Amino acid sequence: MNFYDSERMTDLLKPHGYQLDDNEDDADLIVLNTCHIREKAVEKTYSELGRIRDKIKARKAITGKRSIVAVAGCVAQAQGKEIMKRSPWVDIVVGPQSYQNLPELIAKVDPINKNKNINIDFPIIPKFDQLNAKIEERGPSAFLTIQEGCDKFCTFCVVPYTRGAEYSRPLKSIIDEAKKLIDVGVKEITLLGQNVNAWSSKGLDNLNWGLGRLIDELSKFDELKFIRYTTSHPLDMDIELIKSHRDNKKLMPYLHLPVQSGSDNVLKLMNRKHTSKDYLKIIEKIRDYNPEIAISGDFIVGFPGETDKDHMSTLSLIKQVNYAHAYSFKYSKRPGTPGSVFPNHIDEDIKNFRLYEVQELLRSQQLSFNKKTINSIIKVLVLKKGKKKNQYIGRSPFNQSVYLSSKNENLIGSFIDLNITEAFQNSLTGNILLDF
Ligand code: 5AD
Ligand code: SF4
Repeated sequence: MNFYDSERMTDLLKPHGYQLDDNEDDADLIVLNTCHIREKAVEKTYSELGRIRDKIKARKAITGKRSIVAVAGCVAQAQGKEIMKRSPWVDIVVGPQSYQNLPELIAKVDPINKNKNINIDFPIIPKFDQLNAKIEERGPSAFLTIQEGCDKFCTFCVVPYTRGAEYSRPLKSIIDEAKKLIDVGVKEITLLGQNVNAWSSKGLDNLNWGLGRLIDELSKFDELKFIRYTTSHPLDMDIELIKSHRDNKKLMPYLHLPVQSGSDNVLKLMNRKHTSKDYLKIIEKIRDYNPEIAISGDFIVGFPGETDKDHMSTLSLIKQVNYAHAYSFKYSKRPGTPGSVFPNHIDEDIKNFRLYEVQELLRSQQLSFNKKTINSIIKVLVLKKGKKKNQYIGRSPFNQSVYLSSKNENLIGSFIDLNITEAFQNSLTGNILLDF
């Protein structure tokens, strides 16, 4: 979602004379878009800020020019005042719900006296109404935010505090943005939301539509070939969406459905509002409708109070689901969340060991999922050039990175049938069936 927000900030600033620069050494404006989900991400913000301070000092010494520095994203939302205190040379702090105001905030920065700007309120007018900047370029694949915020309040998670209450973007605004993306050549759209499958809005027939109906509507754009969505909550996985995985050929056979833990005790402490059995039942149903679907997930190890037995239940759930891919993290204490003041925080060494066990199991499942594709023919969307000569990188319907080789100069944005020859932990290699 930060990637999407950064792209939108770029679109927004273009009419004001800014353009993207690969080299921050001579940038007039540096926007640091930050993440608050785990402590590590927050630490990164402060270390990046130190690095940026050195860069802008050096630029000032050499050229006499002062760069404007803005900190955006969820660390800005949660720690705006602290950032200004620790890094008083930062000009702008802007939260994820307010970045549509960035051009105004930049205009207000006084280059001589420095005028501090903090803009972290949750605005009453949803930002999307003001985010209608022209989209001039994207690659073949783009993100589109359709939902933001969360009302689920898992006890480990900062999202409800940094991104605010659950909000579904209206259908028309989504369709308009999808059209803009398709007009600049986008072939694959990933619909985004912290709880994307909770999306709901009045449909074209005035009835309430869920994500399945939205995907069907977007499928009507001929030039749009692949549709994905992320990230989902098990409780919002309704039958309409599950059926779309069977009936809608543009909806990719990949589902990221975090469970976080396999232990019902821990799930309860986490306030996940579902049991491990509920989760397994949903997976079974999805596979009934689409047996080839690749299942992905998120896991947290070492939540306060997690016992060895709870950890074994997580390993057992992973074995039962057999994931194609998954993310896993050590529990990270987030200030202001209920979990941070729970008793029985887990020792770091134990967390490390549990993470190792979970990741080893997930790694082996991912590798065998990838290996199953060897000798099959897979349609891949070519996304970019690789590092090697004549090499390209594409993405499979199952969200795997696929390497291919072709002398053709212009394959980016093409769909190509590949015969998969090799499979690794994080990628596949394929040969073009008919090179042209
Ligand atoms: N500690 C560790 N992992 C977390 N996540 C969210 N909050 C925390 C936390 N406090 C993980 C969850 C979520 C993913 C985006 O990040 O697994 O699904
Ligand atoms: Fe965070 Fe997801 Fe739980 Fe919402 S559902 S609180 S975003 S982990």
